[in-house]
Amino acid sequence: MQQRITLTVNGADRHLTIDPETPLLYALRNDLGLSSPRQGCSQEQCGACRVIMDGEAIYACTTKVKEANNRRITTVEGVSIDGALHPVQQAILDENAAQCGYCLSGIINRAVLLLEKNPSPDRSDIQTAFKDHLCRCGAHNRIIRAIQNAAREMHHD
Ligand code: FES
Ligand code: FES
Repeated sequence: MQQRITLTVNGADRHLTIDPETPLLYALRNDLGLSSPRQGCSQEQCGACRVIMDGEAIYACTTKVKEANNRRITTVEGVSIDGALHPVQQAILDENAAQCGYCLSGIINRAVLLLEKNPSPDRSDIQTAFKDHLCRCGAHNRIIRAIQNAAREMHHD
């Protein structure tokens, strides 16, 4: 049975008539056309699907769309600031931290949240925050450097 669901995605209300058991990931990708949340394991093991819901990083693969009803969702499409790349995105580009890029949407969302809560994370803070994120390309060290660079950049402003 279909249900009417309202998601506030990147600041805009989006209405769906959808099977409420649908994974949020499918609703975002297939119904709302947002390609940044990625499907990896579908088992909360890789972090590729992570988006921000009401200020928490959640797994869009295992969250049902009904659980997101009337909640605020941020995807990578919504993290830019006044049309400019978020400092985390810029730092990843500058550090050449993207290899295939498959893991990066989840990592960018997690990093944006981390820097909101902890503006000056040290290496172990970052490692702890990313313990549930896999990068199959092994770009972890460059990603950690990029997040540290983004923190410094944001700190100076
Ligand atoms: S696809 Fe959700 S954690 Fe891997
Ligand atoms: S850059 Fe390829 S999985 Fe991380």
